[in-house]
Amino acid sequence: MSGNTAVDVAEALFQDLPALSSLETGVIATSWSLDALSQSYSNGCQILKVLVNGESCGYCLFRNVGDETEILNIVIVKSRRRQGLGRTLLLGLIEKLQCSSCKKIWLEVRKSNMAAQKLYDIMGFKQAGIRKNYYRFGITGAGNSNREDALVLSKDL
Ligand SMILES: CC(C)(COP(=O)(O)OP(=O)(O)OC[C@H]1O[C@@H](n2cnc3c(N)ncnc32)[C@H](O)[C@@H]1OP(=O)(O)O)[C@@H](O)C(=O)NCCC(=O)NCCS
Repeated sequence: MSGNTAVDVAEALFQDLPALSSLETGVIATSWSLDALSQSYSNGCQILKVLVNGESCGYCLFRNVGDETEILNIVIVKSRRRQGLGRTLLLGLIEKLQCSSCKKIWLEVRKSNMAAQKLYDIMGFKQAGIRKNYYRFGITGAGNSNREDALVLSKDL
């Protein structure tokens, strides 16, 4: 990204959800509908968004449970991938959580999702377990009736 590009991480508000839910549509494996995002947000989940020159380009949905946090989804818009935004977003989340009582971050990722696994590896997440046949569809979507394992990853803060 060029030197005069401004990248920011900020908390998303309810009014941001339509734009965030439209960043990834039609990908059953990783996209969340506006309804699902709104419901999660209303139930206490939080969202950090990453902005490039003021425009939302990705988000991370997470929830705090006691002194642990679970990442429920992270998405960067396709046209902005491999530009460091996923890393910036996770760093923003980690910095925020380090200022709280959170001691550990958990997440699940599809076994076939190598891009996300690489990102999590770089960010210091370690495999803590595996949930066999956890996801209903393979990463290619509803046409694939195979189930897929989830890797459970965690990172101590
Ligand atoms: C996973 C995702 C969030 C990564 O976001 P991103 O902004 O592209 O990631 P970054 O640019 O910060 O990448 C950081 C590092 O992760 C690794 N990485 C990211 N995407 C990769 C890919 N497609 N293939 C291989 N490595 C990849 C690289 O090591 C990369 O560093 P590098 O570009 O210097 O080599 C993005 O691909 C995405 O939105 N995918 C669809 C949704 C999804 O799968 N979410 C995860 C749910 S668990």
